[in-house]
This record gives sequence, structure tokens and C-alpha cells, in this order.
Amino acid sequence: MLDRLEKERTLTDGEFLEILTTTEYDGELGERADAVRRKVYGDRVFIRGLVEITNYCRNNCYYCGIRRGNRLCTRYRLTEEQIFSCCDEGYGLGFRTFVLQGGEDPRFTDDRICAIVSGIKDRHPDCAVTLSLGEKSRESYGMYRQAGADRYLLRHETADEEHYRKLHPAQLSLENRKRCLFDLKELGYQVGSGFMVGSPYQTSECLVEDLRFLQKLDPDMIGIGPFIHHSQTPFADRPDGSFELTLKLISVLRLMFPHALIPATTALGTINPRGREMGLQRGANVVMPNLSPTGVRELYQLYDNKICTGEESAQCLECLRNRVAAAGYRIVQDIGNVKR
Ligand code: 5AD
Ligand code: FES
Repeated sequence: MLDRLEKERTLTDGEFLEILTTTEYDGELGERADAVRRKVYGDRVFIRGLVEITNYCRNNCYYCGIRRGNRLCTRYRLTEEQIFSCCDEGYGLGFRTFVLQGGEDPRFTDDRICAIVSGIKDRHPDCAVTLSLGEKSRESYGMYRQAGADRYLLRHETADEEHYRKLHPAQLSLENRKRCLFDLKELGYQVGSGFMVGSPYQTSECLVEDLRFLQKLDPDMIGIGPFIHHSQTPFADRPDGSFELTLKLISVLRLMFPHALIPATTALGTINPRGREMGLQRGANVVMPNLSPTGVRELYQLYDNKICTGEESAQCLECLRNRVAAAGYRIVQDIGNVKR
């Protein structure tokens, strides 16, 4: 079965379900995923400098710690100058991609976002700018692209309608989420999507739908990580997602999308101290160290116990460099575009 997954990059729903629900294939799956990753990208690991520009958000997703309804969350937004200086510091450290991530904050108007994007591109023309700022109109996405944005990250979170409604208030819809992703593709962005593993009410069937949706979207980047509870959300008492299942899905995704950029996420490193290393060994090829000012890092808490909130950017990079090397790979200074 794994032979076919590798060659045909797909399986039947029943076969996907079998892989997801038994541990029988786990060992060979991880080895095959690593072999495919090495064939396409060698031992190279791309780094993306994450700048968390605002934790204000107009949405109220049940799983997320910076949801509007969390009155205990101290809110912040970075100034343009702060964002530029994070990127300048990152550039000096060897980063060639900057990811601006934030809640859906109305104060970051389209004009401000465009000014920030073009400001970064002016200073660092050899770098990619990735945005991760949620759902916007097609017009807004078009303006950011004009301003120089290269990539956009927007996880679909779950491709199952019913499940989507259990994770989000009624104002949000899976339909609009998908509209955003296809608009982004049409506008020429390199697009990243993905989902949480083990979010409340998720079933194995939901995960198969996630795989099918990704096949339709055919994204360049795929970010997945375990759901981790946040104590000030409606899902405070829900169990965290499974570490092993997350690793397994990374491997399945590598076999389905040999060229994809797949991060070993911070959430994976949060539920297991060797999580990111193991993610890399099972098919991931990207890490996303934090470049946000240390003063705001603990305020950008999507889930409890997030790692790396106390470290300076340079420390975090050094730490990751060692971890990546110990796992058998090598961080490279490269814009890290998708190989198609
Ligand atoms: N646990 C794990 N991941 C989360 N995200 C948001 N909240 C949580 C949580 N509690 C993920 C979502 C979002 C990304 C930025 O972080 O998938 O798209
Ligand atoms: Fe941030 Fe290790 S990666 S401290």
C-alpha cells in the first residue's frame, strides 16, 4: 500500500483510514517520507522568520487563545518601525523569508499592510514576504500582491463542514475560507494551507477530507500541528492532539506532495521536546523560528505553554541550528521557494 501511495501519491479513502487508525505502517511510512524528502530537497532545511505583528483579532474561534472573547489576553500591535527592525535583525542572521502573522486586526488596514510589505521588499529585495493575516477580500489580497507579497499562509483548519462549524462561530464559514485560498492561488501567491491534528470533534474521516481538500488545492506549503488547549478558551478542558498522529500525517503529506514545504511546527515542539527534530526526520523540511520582539512573545499565545517565548531571535536560531544538525539535516540561507 505504501508503495502505491508513493508512486500514485494517493490512496482510496478506506486505505487512508487504515493508515491513520493503525500503527502498523508508522515505521516504514516515516522512512519513505524521509527518503522522498531527501530526494527532492536533500538534507536542506529552510528557515522562515516569524514576526507576530498583532494579537488583536476580530474573530472568536473556539480553539484560539487570542480570540476576541479572551478578555484576559493583553493586546499589542507592533509599529512599522518595530516590524522593519525585526526583519533587519533577521536578515543579519541569515533569514531570507519573513512571515508576518497576526489576528484579523482592522487597524492593520490594507494601506498599512501594503506599506509594510513594500517597505520590507525595498530593504531586502532578495527576500520573500509571506503574509498570514487571515481572511480578506480578493481585492485586498490583490493589493498586497501588488505591493510585493510573495506567499500567503491560511490553514483551512478542517475541510469538513460540520466540523468547521464546531470549531468556529457562525460568522465564519468553510466556504469563505476556501474562496480565500483559491483567490490567493489565482493571484499568483505561493499558498500554504493546513489543519490542526486532534482538534475537538475531529474524526479520522475528517482527516481524510483534509487530505482530499489539499489534493484539490494543491498548495505549495502545508502546515499542520497538534491541537493544544488554551486555558482561556471554550476548549480549555479538551485533550491535546496526538503527537504520533501528527508525525504520521507529516509523512503521509510528504508522500502525497513530494515538493511541498512542510514545517516542523512550534506546536509540534511544544507537545514534545524533540517534536521539531522528529518532524524533520519524518518528512518536514522547514522550521519557523520566532523573530518577534521578546517583550510580546508571551502575548501571542494561541495555545498554552508555547515554546521559545523567552529567547532572543539569535538564541532561538542557534538552538534550532543545533537541533536540526543533531537530527541529521542542515539549515540553509536561502529564500526557499517551492521546487515544482
Ligand atoms: N492549538 C494548536 N494550533 C492552533 N492554532 C490556533 N489555535 C491553536 C491551538 N489551540 C493554529 C491554527 C492557525 C495557526 C496560526 O495556529 O491552525 O491557523
Ligand atoms: Fe527557540 Fe530552541 S528553538 S529556544
